Amino acid sequence: MDYLEIEGGHKLSGEISISGAKNAALPLIAAALLSNKPVTLTNLPNVVDIRTLLKLLEMLGAKISHNDTTAVIDCSNISSTKAVYEIVSKMRASILVLGPLLSRFHECSVSLPGGCAIGQRPIDLHLKAIETLGASVNLEQGYVVAKAPKGLKGDKIIFDKITVGGTENAVMAAAMAQGVTEIINAAKEPEVVQLCQMLNMGGAKIEGIGSSKLKIYGTGGKPLEFKEPIRVIPDRIEAGTYLCAGAITYSKISLNNVNVEHIQAVLDKLEAMGCSFDIKNDKITLLPAKELKGVNVVTAEYPGFPTDMQAQIMAVATIANSESLIEERLFENRFMHVSELNRLGADIWLKGNIAAVKPVKELKGADVMATDLRASSALVIAALAAKGITRVRRIYHLDRGYDRLEEKLSSLGAKIERKKE
Ligand code: EPZ
Repeated sequence: MDYLEIEGGHKLSGEISISGAKNAALPLIAAALLSNKPVTLTNLPNVVDIRTLLKLLEMLGAKISHNDTTAVIDCSNISSTKAVYEIVSKMRASILVLGPLLSRFHECSVSLPGGCAIGQRPIDLHLKAIETLGASVNLEQGYVVAKAPKGLKGDKIIFDKITVGGTENAVMAAAMAQGVTEIINAAKEPEVVQLCQMLNMGGAKIEGIGSSKLKIYGTGGKPLEFKEPIRVIPDRIEAGTYLCAGAITYSKISLNNVNVEHIQAVLDKLEAMGCSFDIKNDKITLLPAKELKGVNVVTAEYPGFPTDMQAQIMAVATIANSESLIEERLFENRFMHVSELNRLGADIWLKGNIAAVKPVKELKGADVMATDLRASSALVIAALAAKGITRVRRIYHLDRGYDRLEEKLSSLGAKIERKKE
């Protein structure tokens, strides 16, 4: 198994380019199922999760040509509507095929994804949404079997809780339904916005994009058609992760291809810690703090502070000059990085969903284990500042969502190497 060996204590400098967003690209790939013509997606990140979802579509009968950043997906000859356990169990986001398969083919079965390292992660809200649109849903041998023989019918979906994937599935299900669907308490994440914009480009009509109330005029069974290539938006979490890498090493670095509006909540917290920024169009330069200060963070849905940045900001907070309080509001178990950061010399105490990060003078290299995608990047960030050598194991988590991480960090001057056990 591969691991990363990082020699900490070196400043970073220079500039890198941010890749397309994994979490935006995944629903766009699923949305290709709504068309019987080829769909071209560009600026895809070169990460395992993207390849996994493309493989799932291929298993359903899609013809796909894919290089590192572009995929042409042709779903004109779908031969199966069953998303099998072998793929869904690898990647929860596979559940995103539920809405489009049901909308276009009026039936599908999708393996239940099960829990994962960051929490239980149920899909009840996804199922409630498609039931509201008239589907029957049964659980059979670990599969969600959904049917709507006469097609889905628009209705009012009220989400009890804001859900990114649930909103994406509901929007895709509604896109080819008959009549109008309203979604109340919809997620407003930029990734949801891009999906809605794509569907509109393909012939759906969605109003209220970017708000918590969406109105979708279904095409009444007519497949969508995407004539123009769709460029995936920049990855706001990747951008935030590199800013944290720069912050913890007191480095001046620049990132290109950033949508600054999407990372405002992260910039606010890094500013509160003493960093500042120089922003020109889609380029952002981090000017390091004189001395990092403690910060209080509460994760929330967009435009709040993203849960996907909680672990990384915690890593930065470990060497601040005062205590930080970090509260996780979205996932019940998203603190697996705490014990690993403590192995590097951090002093973090957990009580329920709040982590108290007590300041330490320095981190020291150690062997640590990655537990999920963002926890892994937090360990890399901490390792960049830790004295001596850190080995980060189980980096297959990183490969799921960070495009060429060690290449980008090396180009900024980090001493980081991928090695084999
Ligand atoms: C998306 O997951 C992202 N994944 C996650 O990023 C991200 O952490 C999360 O949104 C929150 O921003 C992708 O976009 C592929 P949710 P998703 O449904 O859609 C509860 C990463 O590291 N809930 O918005 O699965 C759920 O348990 C990943 O890149 C239900 O209770 O998240 C959670 O507490 C990890 N029932 C909350 O809602 C449901 O049916 C928000 O989850 C669905 C969700």
